[in-house]
Amino acid sequence: MNKISVVGAGHVGATCAQRLAEKELAREIILIDIVEGIPQGKALDQWESAPVEGFDSKIIGTNSYQAATDSEIFIVTAGIARKPGMSRDDLLKTNTDIVQSVSKEIARVAPKSIIIMVSNPLDVMSYVAMQATGFPRERIIGMAGILDTARYRSFIALELDVSIEDIQALVLGGHGDTMVPLVSTTNISGIPLNHFIDQDRIDALIERTRKGGAEIVSHLKTGSAYYAPSAAAVQMAEAIVKDKKRILPCAAYLQGEFGHNGIFLGVPCKLGVSGIQEIVEVDLTESERNELAKSAEAVRSSMKFLSN
Ligand code: LAC
Repeated sequence: MNKISVVGAGHVGATCAQRLAEKELAREIILIDIVEGIPQGKALDQWESAPVEGFDSKIIGTNSYQAATDSEIFIVTAGIARKPGMSRDDLLKTNTDIVQSVSKEIARVAPKSIIIMVSNPLDVMSYVAMQATGFPRERIIGMAGILDTARYRSFIALELDVSIEDIQALVLGGHGDTMVPLVSTTNISGIPLNHFIDQDRIDALIERTRKGGAEIVSHLKTGSAYYAPSAAAVQMAEAIVKDKKRILPCAAYLQGEFGHNGIFLGVPCKLGVSGIQEIVEVDLTESERNELAKSAEAVRSSMKFLSN
């Protein structure tokens, strides 16, 4: 790939840029931020790590979207992060304005690009980007499910003392306290999770997963998570760049899938060079269906703020 741009040179964006470069996913990685000096300084520092790490992707820091012209992919991390006690929805107003203006710039300089949305509240910001760019749903993909699933898998690995490599799981729904880990399909090398631990311990793992973002915020105090979020966003970019057709949980604009319409919600998506190539409508148990409906309701109620 020629060019991948990352908007926002904070912790998430800068870590994305470094990971993209280390994986050599594009010839040029453009790091954009409105703050003068920060993208330039971070990008130069990262480029200076290239001789040690051995990558040839150039990292370029800039305050202007011109450098991002014709980027194939944008990872959007711009916006303010959560402080302790803040919900993702508290961010809504500020980040809507930011994501709107960023999206318009993207549509202007790279009308054929694919947007991976990372800014919170994720499901709503993906919608804001779709409205502002007019891009088809295949090219606006929200990053949440991979992160939420990674947290769930990481907690299961600790609890069971098994390799994370063997844990298969899917967390669907909105990126919030109503996310839906699919216990019915969670397995360790094909063996169902409930073979290893009882329901009480499973419930505790789910609770910790739902609060995973807040747990990090409560430690950091001055910001939110970035290592796992950037790893998740870059995994999506890699699936697109390499046309891997991986099936990953992502926030996608639903048009009737899973019985929901007109909102972004975390669902299993096949990712390839054109973006979302398929939404996989996995069978859900009745309680999972109900939980997904609750999660959809939570996303819808956040979206109401948009029209205010
Ligand atoms: C998290 C925030 C970034 O889940 O939404 O860590």
